[in-house]
Amino acid sequence: MANAFDEFKVHSVAEFFKKNRQMLGFSGRVRSLTTVVHEYVTNSLDAAEEAGILPDISVEIKEFPNEHYVVKAEDNCTGIPQKHVGKALGMMLAGTKFHRYMQQRGQQGIGASGCTMFSQITTGKPVHVKSGTGNGKVFECDLFIDLKTNQPKITNFVEMPGDFKGLSIQAEFAEVKYDKSTHSVFEYLKLTAIANPHAQITLIEPTGEKTVFPRSTNQIPKRPSEILPHPLGITTNDLIEKAHHSVSRKVGSFLTTEFSRVSNDKIKEIDGIVNEGKAPDNPEYVNFEKKPSELKWPEAERIILAFQKVKWIAPSTDSITPIGKEQVEKSLRNILNPEFVSVTERKPKVFRGGVPFMVEAAVAYGGQAGTKTANGIGGDIIRFANRAPLLFDGGGCATTEAVKTIDWKRYDIKDFENEPLTVFINFVSVYVPYTGAGKQAISLEDEIIQEIRYAVMEVARDLERYVHGKFRAHERANKIKAIMRYVKQLSADLPDLAGMGKPDQLEAKLVKLIETKYMQGELEGDEEEGDENGEVKNGKPEGKDDAEEEEQ
Ligand SMILES: Nc1ncnc2c1ncn2[C@@H]1O[C@H](COP(=O)(O)OP(=O)(O)OP(=O)(O)O)[C@@H](O)[C@H]1O
Ligand SMILES: [Mg+2]
Repeated sequence: MANAFDEFKVHSVAEFFKKNRQMLGFSGRVRSLTTVVHEYVTNSLDAAEEAGILPDISVEIKEFPNEHYVVKAEDNCTGIPQKHVGKALGMMLAGTKFHRYMQQRGQQGIGASGCTMFSQITTGKPVHVKSGTGNGKVFECDLFIDLKTNQPKITNFVEMPGDFKGLSIQAEFAEVKYDKSTHSVFEYLKLTAIANPHAQITLIEPTGEKTVFPRSTNQIPKRPSEILPHPLGITTNDLIEKAHHSVSRKVGSFLTTEFSRVSNDKIKEIDGIVNEGKAPDNPEYVNFEKKPSELKWPEAERIILAFQKVKWIAPSTDSITPIGKEQVEKSLRNILNPEFVSVTERKPKVFRGGVPFMVEAAVAYGGQAGTKTANGIGGDIIRFANRAPLLFDGGGCATTEAVKTIDWKRYDIKDFENEPLTVFINFVSVYVPYTGAGKQAISLEDEIIQEIRYAVMEVARDLERYVHGKFRAHERANKIKAIMRYVKQLSADLPDLAGMGKPDQLEAKLVKLIETKYMQGELEGDEEEGDENGEVKNGKPEGKDDAEEEEQ
């Protein structure tokens, strides 16, 4: 009889993603092409930010017969040293970011190597790489992944003298398609430009048409700084993994050096909680003097439980940097040309007890704000995580969830789906809890959703004032028009009836009187609602609503 275990096999992570390529965003022909560009461009922006370079990125897409496309992505950043290029672009779960706790777009070590895999499984071809690190030499090579072993293979390696500095990747793909729909490369780069005003991005489309999203500031974003994880933000698994890779000599010093806010006094306190009433020969006793590599799972679990019982100083939030109010406003004005913009930058907060994050949000109204719908223009949400646009999987994202739960009518937006409105949200953190390896949606965690709601409600309040003011101005103009219609008739009839005065003079006087009253705001019909600034609205004091009150 056949035994299932005769078929027992071990597979590599590359084989796993070959089989589950949709997890990396390679599903749907348009989406797959956008994913490729997303991976290459986020890598360039990360490299630029870490090295303090103003990025110049170009993406060229060419179409070939049988719906094959070649994507060439080039930057002026750091390049990748020869020693690392194979693993960086031809091995999954390898890179400079996965193990570091810092604000970057990439965090898994799968993006670029996923593209190498996708190129090879749809066309059978390797990717071509050119790299210059600024040492006067430039190398080029072809690169693919041995999917069985998740190991890089490099061929056709050449090195030559040259000044090129940066990375250029050229890869061919099938099962992709270029168009200009809402989920296209074009839209993706437009959104990237909004959130990265320091970057110059050029797109050359298959038609040969060239679009430049120009740099609108020379201010390089603050270099992201690496922070140590906070004890409240980690799991037993994280603790074990870190302990087993640690070079510290003792569990105690491992905890004080590899986590933030852990002092020797805290170790004593944790030791006291973990080992309370246990003698050293008790199998449950945790020895803080032993090597971290010897830490066992149940011991790590007890340490994690003790972490929850200790009072901690909150993690430092210096490590997170938003785009900034001024820049967001400038970008939205440049790209959407709206009538009105309001931007807020919330104070940094913490999720899962120990991971610092912050939300910046904006609302743009009128102009090209909003998105095209079957009925005209409707409300749009543009989502970003660490300045990288999130174009897909909006349904399961904390940002969309937050916007959905806001009662827009309270902000004079009668129907969100039918207004020329763009809501901008950037989630900034040293760790973005994505829902999947494709990095397109932020997980639905209450603390995150709530904070995004507060941010959006803040700008919605400003929008309400604007929309309300606009409505009143419209009403006043209508009223004036109606009154003016009677002035002419009245000025002609009144002198006749009274047997005195001249129509021309009377008309001029009446017009002057109405204009004066209008200027003094005495022709409004809704004074009962409160003063000009909407001081009292919905029976609540200015600047407060349910959520803010809840928060206080
Ligand atoms: N344009 C580039 N310039 C410099 N280094 C790069 C560039 N592209 C990739 N790298 C290096 O290659 C590594 C692997 O890139 P990859 O996109 O696979 O993973 P990642 O960016 O670390 O994480 P993620 O999977 O979330 O994108 C990066 O960590 C980085 O060190
Ligand atoms: Mg990446």
